[in-house]
Amino acid sequence: MLARDWYYNERRSIGIDSTVASIYDGQDDSDLRARAALTMLGVQRGWRVADIGCGTGVLACEAALMGADVDAIDISPAMLALAEIQARDRKVAVRFQSAGLLSFAYQPNSYDLVVSEFALHHLPDFWKAVALARIFRALKPGACFYLRDIVFASMPDGPERGVEAWADFIIKNHRFTRESVITHMRDEYSTFGWVIERLLTEAGFTLVSADYDAPLHGTYRLRKPKSGEQG
Ligand SMILES: C[S@@+](CC[C@H](N)C(=O)[O-])C[C@H]1O[C@@H](n2cnc3c(N)ncnc32)[C@H](O)[C@@H]1O
Repeated sequence: MLARDWYYNERRSIGIDSTVASIYDGQDDSDLRARAALTMLGVQRGWRVADIGCGTGVLACEAALMGADVDAIDISPAMLALAEIQARDRKVAVRFQSAGLLSFAYQPNSYDLVVSEFALHHLPDFWKAVALARIFRALKPGACFYLRDIVFASMPDGPERGVEAWADFIIKNHRFTRESVITHMRDEYSTFGWVIERLLTEAGFTLVSADYDAPLHGTYRLRKPKSGEQG
């Protein structure tokens, strides 16, 4: 059997995120934003939904409240513990999986919707592609993937300005610390929006929309084509 001792160790970023788990404590309007996104994506009662990199589980709980059958997946035990408290407090049934983008268990062609918000940047680009291929396989034909992440919308002469604007924005609006911004830039793997778009289409997705709204935020709506459709 292949040892796969070269496989990426996605648990190496746990230490980084568990230090910020305490600030993802739901004291904002993230539930309203999650509800709006899920409504826009057309979530229906009975849909199978996965939130990969679910953090404290706000979106997963909202999806469950809308009647979806939800898997909340995260690599960090600290985050999952907070997500479980959230689900208990909100009295919703959510399945939890302690796993990552490269290791979550799935049945091929089983999900109506996969969401991943601000988690993909934890992987270097090669491993982003591996994760996207896994998500593609997990989705039903015709189903949707909703991806949000911190990405660079500009070319290399721009990031300095972009990063400072983004730092100001998230420190002011999301109670992030300067230290977490530094950690993100120095130790994590955000990449260019055009790299993400190419990785997505190479994985087979149809790019329905790509928006670069808040500083350094990319929001992508993708669809897995049905057989016979053009990707
Ligand atoms: C910035 S938080 C975002 C949480 C939530 N999605 C949100 O938008 O509020 C990033 C999350 O990704 C998780 N994470 C880090 N690496 C991961 C991986 N390889 N696979 C899945 N989740 C991962 C972290 O534990 C953390 O919960």
